Amino acid sequence: MTQTPPPSTNILWPRFWQMAVACFILAGLTGALYRFGLVLGLPWGLQLGNVRHAHSHLMYFSWTTPALMALIAARLPEILPVGWELRPRRFYLPISLAFLFGLAAYPFFLLYGYQPIALGAARLPLAAMIGTLNTVAWYGFIWAYLRTTWGAPRHLPLKFWDGAVVMMLLASLGGWGLAISGRLGGSSLFVNQALTHLFLDLFAEGWLVLGVLGLAYATQADRAKHAAAPYALKLLLLGLPVAFLLTIPVGLVPPLVRGVGSIGGLLVGVGLLLQVWLLRPRQTAWTPWHFPLAFLALRALMSLTLTLPQLARWTERMNLRISYLHWLLLGFVTLGLVAAALEQWPHRPGIPWRPFSLSVGLIIVSLIPLTRLWPEPWAGVWAVWLAAIVALIPVLIAIPALRRP
Ligand code: HEM
Repeated sequence: MTQTPPPSTNILWPRFWQMAVACFILAGLTGALYRFGLVLGLPWGLQLGNVRHAHSHLMYFSWTTPALMALIAARLPEILPVGWELRPRRFYLPISLAFLFGLAAYPFFLLYGYQPIALGAARLPLAAMIGTLNTVAWYGFIWAYLRTTWGAPRHLPLKFWDGAVVMMLLASLGGWGLAISGRLGGSSLFVNQALTHLFLDLFAEGWLVLGVLGLAYATQADRAKHAAAPYALKLLLLGLPVAFLLTIPVGLVPPLVRGVGSIGGLLVGVGLLLQVWLLRPRQTAWTPWHFPLAFLALRALMSLTLTLPQLARWTERMNLRISYLHWLLLGFVTLGLVAAALEQWPHRPGIPWRPFSLSVGLIIVSLIPLTRLWPEPWAGVWAVWLAAIVALIPVLIAIPALRRP
């Protein structure tokens, strides 16, 4: 936001960033294909559900995850004491594997989704199997991060990243639980949903959000020293491991379990609002962090809303899930990564944050007519066309970031 780091000498970090942006472009085009598919139909026998899986998996595994890993690794030299042994090579393999497994699973998700594919006599769910290999990249990153930062003074950005890697580990347990319960069969709908949300929500709100917040504090030494900052982080660390219970459809969750989720959601909502307050840009001119923090505030209010079962049921009836999911993942995480990359590599081709942030705002607005908040007499096929066309804009704006410096 204010402090510009010295230009990094490691050429690989910005290369990894560009590869992640290329994956964002592919995943964004896949999202746009879904929207155009709704009005025009899909070519080559593709199915909407599979296109959606291909989109969301690539966004999670090969856009946000390796981009965040590369930004954390690139930032560590400024966070760790002078002369600290860094060995950036430790990070190369996990980040490369994140691209490899994410991209390798993509065509299988696109063509078959979670369906098993006949291979000789066997029928194997190849997309899910390759997708599961992503955990190797995550565990590799956790190892590299802990090995590199072990024994270093825990300044606030490191505390956020410690929390982020712990949440990634917990989320992966949900993923394994899902794979095992799928093989054993017979788990209740609630257990299935709980494991799915443990995996997806903790990955998004834990790993990605804490990771990006750590990047924001890394350039904000004055904010990181604020007395409230460590407490705001503790609220998130306490609330996140149970807040995922609130995104499971209300009717499936036993009331006592939902009560525990609500306490978690309250801690997370308040914790996120405190982060927004602490990190709010002081200057009156727009900065790349204004938009992501505004979206984070919106998402924090949604966490608070979901704590009340009546309001949570209302969000289900209004069909708001896709909207609030993108407030966080596109509005905060993606724009936050773009802001952090501009701070990290100010002299390299970046994503122009003003038009990009506006285009993300347009996508979020274009989702409203697709919800039940929109009056039915005004609804129509035009809304799907609008969402499809608008979906292409951030993708087009991101393309110049792929050019060579
Ligand atoms: C260019 C930006 C993006 C576009 C155009 C886009 C588009 C879409 C579309 C069309 C859907 C399906 C909606 C439906 O089912 O009605 C979707 C779902 C989803 N998207 Fe995105 N999205 C974008 C960015 C992101 C990002 C950055 C992430 C994550 C980091 C993400 C994660 C997801 C997830 C998790 C789902 C739900 C998948 C499911 O329910 O199976 N999206 N998106």
